[in-house]
Amino acid sequence: MTDILKVLQVSKNFVKPIDIASKVVNMFGNFYNQEVVHAVDNVSFNVTSGEVVGVVGESGCGKSTLGRMIAGILPLTSGKLDFHDQHYSGFDEGNYKHNSHIDLKIQMIFQDPFSSLNPRQKIIDIISEAPIHHKLISKKDKKYFVKDILNKVGLGTDAMDRFPHQFSGGQRQRIGIARALAVSPEFIVCDESIAALDVSIQAQVINLFLKLRQDLNLTYLFISHDIGVIQHIADRVVVMYLGQIVETASSDEIFSHPNHPYTKALLEGVPTLDTKKKIYTPIKGEIPSPINPPSGCYFHPRCKFSTNKCITDKPSYKEVSPNHFSACHLNS
Ligand SMILES: Nc1ncnc2c1ncn2[C@@H]1O[C@H](COP(=O)(O)OP(=O)(O)OP(=O)(O)O)[C@@H](O)[C@H]1O
Ligand SMILES: [Mg+2]
Repeated sequence: MTDILKVLQVSKNFVKPIDIASKVVNMFGNFYNQEVVHAVDNVSFNVTSGEVVGVVGESGCGKSTLGRMIAGILPLTSGKLDFHDQHYSGFDEGNYKHNSHIDLKIQMIFQDPFSSLNPRQKIIDIISEAPIHHKLISKKDKKYFVKDILNKVGLGTDAMDRFPHQFSGGQRQRIGIARALAVSPEFIVCDESIAALDVSIQAQVINLFLKLRQDLNLTYLFISHDIGVIQHIADRVVVMYLGQIVETASSDEIFSHPNHPYTKALLEGVPTLDTKKKIYTPIKGEIPSPINPPSGCYFHPRCKFSTNKCITDKPSYKEVSPNHFSACHLNS
């Protein structure tokens, strides 16, 4: 199996602009530091061709930021992204260049396709716009082309001449998927792509993702706060906390032998009464700020196994069993 994507020490900082009060303080000679959010902090992992890698972690841990950098729609602060061993990442510092050929090969599907579908455009034009623009198809072929893609995502040909508002949420997500597929991607970043759908529709869209993976040999980075969904769809799981990876292993291994106390706490999620879905239960303690992360292990203020070493030393990310990595002092 070959690696399709290599994420190498990738970081993303967001610098919060100084507000007026702080500017006034600075005018009087006091130095007020700009606040920097370390949204993604030195993240490295590989994705194998055909694999589904799930990304989990509480709100604000950097999942979407990571996904957007991989999809080439957000520049990196530092690090490197390789697709088929070809470097494609763009950087913050004035030279946001990215490889447009690779950008087409990596597509992103968001939570709410409706906000990104032009309400005045017919479905045939929504789907064919990018492939015509990038000269992947000619205008005269668009009808045949769109018909084929609609068929792949389980929509009838009659969808072509309709407008986005004439479809249900699940159908609109299928249109969003069709639009992403129209440029023949190899890798798809799904960011909470089924979160907005009714539970009954979610299963259908997950099955569509799995079928497309098979039929079109796709690879996915699948971001979801729903552990049940991740368990169902992912081959491997990446667990993030405060911008960093704390644990990675195959899906079977993560769910049967979680190693990191943070992963264990996440998996203690119980099915909620209304949806019967496994979502994260709130873990004890507040999520620390990514502007001022704690010393040592970032999870130590909330960890029930925390020792003095956890407060002072950063744990190394070690292989605890074959292809199972975790960053916890309990392993040393
Ligand atoms: N454009 C931005 N400017 C400043 N800070 C940002 C920006 N985008 C994200 N952040 C911050 O970066 C951190 C990571 O955000 P991100 O949206 O990647 O988290 P997430 O894991 O996707 O969360 P959620 O589960 O809520 O979608 C958060 O602290 C967030 O406030
Ligand atoms: Mg997000």
